[in-house]
Amino acid sequence: MKTIAVLGTGTMGAGVAQIAAQAGHDVIFWNRREASVEKGMGVIQKGLGRLLKKERISQQDHDSALARVSGSATLEDVKAADLVLEAVPEDAELKRELYERLGAICSEEVVFATNTSSLSITELGRSSGRPTKFVGMHFFNPVPAMKLVEIVRGLETADATAQAVTDLAERLGKVPIPVRDMPGFVVNRVVMPMINEAATALQQGVASAEHIDECMKLGCNHPMGPLALADLVGLDVVWAILDSLYREFGDAHHKPCLEITKRVEAGHLGTKTGRGFYTY
Ligand code: CAA
Repeated sequence: MKTIAVLGTGTMGAGVAQIAAQAGHDVIFWNRREASVEKGMGVIQKGLGRLLKKERISQQDHDSALARVSGSATLEDVKAADLVLEAVPEDAELKRELYERLGAICSEEVVFATNTSSLSITELGRSSGRPTKFVGMHFFNPVPAMKLVEIVRGLETADATAQAVTDLAERLGKVPIPVRDMPGFVVNRVVMPMINEAATALQQGVASAEHIDECMKLGCNHPMGPLALADLVGLDVVWAILDSLYREFGDAHHKPCLEITKRVEAGHLGTKTGRGFYTY
């Protein structure tokens, strides 16, 4: 797997593209909008620059990693890829259309991996037209710092496909863990209800946002509080995952609370928009 296509140039796509380039892969970094490709390239530059400043990588490693990433707004460029990793927004229809186009561009051997955090791998696998070559490869934010990759097998994912992305995750310096294709997989199933509960506590006036976060940091040794974490992940993403857990399990404690819903409606999505539970 020399060449990896990363589709989607947001936070997750940029993080995956960065670590793949650092691991020596050629990366095709695609978004349908030219401006989004440029923005994503800026995120990669910033990520590599951060490592250079901290003297975690040399100037040469920095430059060669950056040179391995080619931005593109032309989907046909993905033809050169040995693996496609899709990290476009969590919209099933958008993904379905994308897979349809990719099916005509990529050879049948190419594995499609999705970074979805809220959609069924089995269902996306079917719409990809190559369910045995389809798998979930779920990274965590911020990608360069988080060690875990959940490897999610759909009902028809072949052993060889799951093995290929497990090996890839290891080569990227991550720890791959196999999980079943169930809503939220493991991490989001556990962490999203916690975020929802913290937001409900805020809604009920139990404590301020700062104090709720401080409680979880000092009382549970979490590296950051749940509300700050929600801002980091993006409140739109948090909302979508909670909504999907709510629809799948029908359990009221997954229903996104108003403190989250109203901020999403207002476009206050967290660090990426400069405002969420906190102002940045
Ligand atoms: N990009 C790249 N690297 C980053 C980074 C970023 N945005 N933020 C921090 N890092 C790296 C730093 O470079 C540093 O690495 P080194 O030790 O190699 O120097 C390391 O992370 C620690 O960073 P800092 O010392 O600057 O800051 P910190 O100690 O406060 O840690 C944090 C920051 C890593 C974000 C930490 O607060 C943390 O782990 N928070 C929890 C994050 C988390 O739970 N993520 C999962 C969210 S759920 C999800 O992503 C799933 C989903 O589907 C939505």
